[in-house]
Amino acid sequence: MGVNRVMRWMATGPPAFAVRPSLHRAEFAIWAVRGRQGPPPHAFKEAIVKDYAARNRLETLVETGTYLGDMVWAVRHTFREIHTIELDASLYRRGPALFWLDGHYSGGITARGELDTPIRKELSRVFASPWPHVVLIDDASDFTGRGDYPAVDELDALLRSIRPGLVVSSSDNVIRIHQPPG
Ligand SMILES: C[S@@+](CC[C@H](N)C(=O)[O-])C[C@H]1O[C@@H](n2cnc3c(N)ncnc32)[C@H](O)[C@@H]1O
Repeated sequence: MGVNRVMRWMATGPPAFAVRPSLHRAEFAIWAVRGRQGPPPHAFKEAIVKDYAARNRLETLVETGTYLGDMVWAVRHTFREIHTIELDASLYRRGPALFWLDGHYSGGITARGELDTPIRKELSRVFASPWPHVVLIDDASDFTGRGDYPAVDELDALLRSIRPGLVVSSSDNVIRIHQPPG
């Protein structure tokens, strides 16, 4: 890998979340030292967003244009809920996430979609992305093969066909799926 490719990988690849906030702080310091000439840097915009959230006591952020998720990362402790919308598929597919899959019909006032649980589709979608997502599925005891729930064996086979090598375990009624360590 050449130096340019390494730099691009550092700036936009998986290490970006570790590196970019420091770059933003440095950018801000340089901008401030130079008398705030030119367009405000990212850290300044982050401060504006946080300020308006605090002033208006808002706990939900809706952002259009996710790009590399810098704003989301910077304000993750400011909002209880963040919705971010990105048009570019290669951008919105990047970034591993923790999925808590608990959307299913559960009687009472709960919604009943075409399927009582869309779990097969959900897993196919999640693992269609090459990123090392981690998935937790609630109500492991429902995976009996009855109704729309796959049995545990079927779930294992499905996961093997979607992404060989995933580690699947279950305890405390929660199914846990992740990449092998290392
Ligand atoms: C300036 S960047 C966003 C930067 C980001 N908000 C941040 O703070 O780091 C603009 C992003 O908007 C995306 N974009 C372009 N057209 C869009 C659209 N119509 N809807 C949503 N996102 C769009 C681009 O792919 C790009 O990732």
